[in-house]
Amino acid sequence: MKIIQINGHKIEVLFSQSTIAKRVDEMAFEVAETEPQKLLAVPVLKGSFIFAADLLRSFHSADLLPEVDFMMLSSYRDKTTSSGQVEILRDIQTDVTDRDVLLIDDILESGRTLAFAKDLLIARGARRVMIAILLDKPHKRAVDIQAEFCGFECPDKFVVGYGMDMGHAYRQLPFVGAVINAG
Ligand code: IMP
Ligand code: MG
Repeated sequence: MKIIQINGHKIEVLFSQSTIAKRVDEMAFEVAETEPQKLLAVPVLKGSFIFAADLLRSFHSADLLPEVDFMMLSSYRDKTTSSGQVEILRDIQTDVTDRDVLLIDDILESGRTLAFAKDLLIARGARRVMIAILLDKPHKRAVDIQAEFCGFECPDKFVVGYGMDMGHAYRQLPFVGAVINAG
């Protein structure tokens, strides 16, 4: 177990830079096997930005020719009810009618954020909406949704790095780590 001390936090490395790079390359080929038509890749900001940047560059080797647009969503977890609210902070500006769309996000946890985005794009006429996530945290799933492409299953821990944050810090880390002494 490799533990790194940063800024008073102890962070346990869960997925190293090289482990992530290898898996992300493989994922691009998994996406290519589905032979997407008129592919639009939609990174869901902000946490996905590094994963999306790497995955999209691997698309080149996998002979995929996506267009890319961005969506920013914010989910509010209402602790008193099981329903979470998702708000669109930034919408794509691309027509998805009859296109295959790949939503790219960092983590699938309750599933509410990606279920909302998927339903929205299907309602707008997308031909097929697929989901690529770096990490699956299946322990707190609240809606029935699965990702077609998943990097790694993640333990039920708070993780940072590779785009993911704790209070907007630690997004720059090139690995994914669990914060041991959070809060
Ligand atoms: P959900 O699937 O709607 O619950 O949303 C998952 C989102 O919650 C992810 O895209 C992250 O933005 C955030 N999230 C969940 N777990 C973590 C974590 O361990 N670290 C950082 N962000 C997290
Ligand atoms: Mg997110």
